Amino acid sequence: MKVLITGGSGFIGQALCQRLIDAGHQPLVVSRAPDKAKKGLPAEVVVREQVSDFAAEGPEAIVNLAGEPIAEGRWTEAKKKALIESRIGITRDAVDFCSTQERPPAVLVSASAMGYYGDQGSRDVTEQTTPHDEFAHQLCKRWEEEARRAESSGVRVAILRIGLVLDAGGGMLAKTTPVFKLGLGGKLGDGSQYMPWIHRNDMVGMILFLLERDDLSGAFNASAPNPVTNADFTRELGRALKRPAVLPAPALALKLAFGEMSRLLLTGAKMLPARMEQAGFEFEYRDLDQALNAIFRS
Ligand SMILES: NC(=O)c1ccc[n+]([C@@H]2O[C@H](COP(=O)([O-])OP(=O)(O)OC[C@H]3O[C@@H](n4cnc5c(N)ncnc54)[C@H](OP(=O)(O)O)[C@@H]3O)[C@@H](O)[C@H]2O)c1
Repeated sequence: MKVLITGGSGFIGQALCQRLIDAGHQPLVVSRAPDKAKKGLPAEVVVREQVSDFAAEGPEAIVNLAGEPIAEGRWTEAKKKALIESRIGITRDAVDFCSTQERPPAVLVSASAMGYYGDQGSRDVTEQTTPHDEFAHQLCKRWEEEARRAESSGVRVAILRIGLVLDAGGGMLAKTTPVFKLGLGGKLGDGSQYMPWIHRNDMVGMILFLLERDDLSGAFNASAPNPVTNADFTRELGRALKRPAVLPAPALALKLAFGEMSRLLLTGAKMLPARMEQAGFEFEYRDLDQALNAIFRS
């Protein structure tokens, strides 16, 4: 199967490309900087600048991952605009591509994030939970709505509301591990906020699962069945790295340093992968200690 991937050069995309190749598929990656992207991808991957550059290949599936990094720096008005436009723009390109192809791709698997739900305190959050209205929700809602427009071209659309993706070499662990290794790790605020997480292998596994299962569509929570609080996460990461993790970052300091973006660090949702489990997806990593031990052993 030819699979077009926007943002395929990123942390999830790189692992996805390798897994697709291993399974005998052909990844076609869209990147703003194809030469640079090629350096981080297996040689079999074809990389071009625009979605429309792959019209002649007739991809059978699209995986939409591109977007400006969300957890970096303050959310100034310019940053918020970039967060929205980078996602809506390329999603629109993918959807328009579907509408212009004589044989449109059968499926679009499109990224969204746990931020869809906004702050949910400690209640269980499934795909049915009413979101809390805030910037992250508005961003994800618009992103998802744009992707779902592909349904009018007869494309099956599956949305992944992604939790914190864990593995070595990128994502949140690339930022936190150096701090923890110095013994400077600690909980954020009071540590009671939930952090739904997922090992990168399971993240990629879910994408393949949704590409293959033509009975599945709509929104799916993409996180492990056992979410943890920030305090639990901090303790487990300290334990996996064999370092103390007792230096808390006070909520006020994070608010002053990051403004509105600090909500990503100080609030959360106890997101559960209800629809994935119902559909029979088998997790390789259900528990955080198991995932972290595997990551730091390798
Ligand atoms: N990793 C996580 O923990 C996590 C959690 C929740 C949601 N997500 C979402 O899942 C998607 C993939 O995650 P990831 O961790 O693989 O992301 P990533 O490593 O940041 O990669 C995303 C890719 O998007 C492209 N991109 C970046 N800024 C862009 C911009 N301004 N305009 C257009 N394209 C841009 C880049 O590709 P080029 O430079 O090659 O163009 C980049 O490789 C993202 O949309 C992210 O928001 C990730």
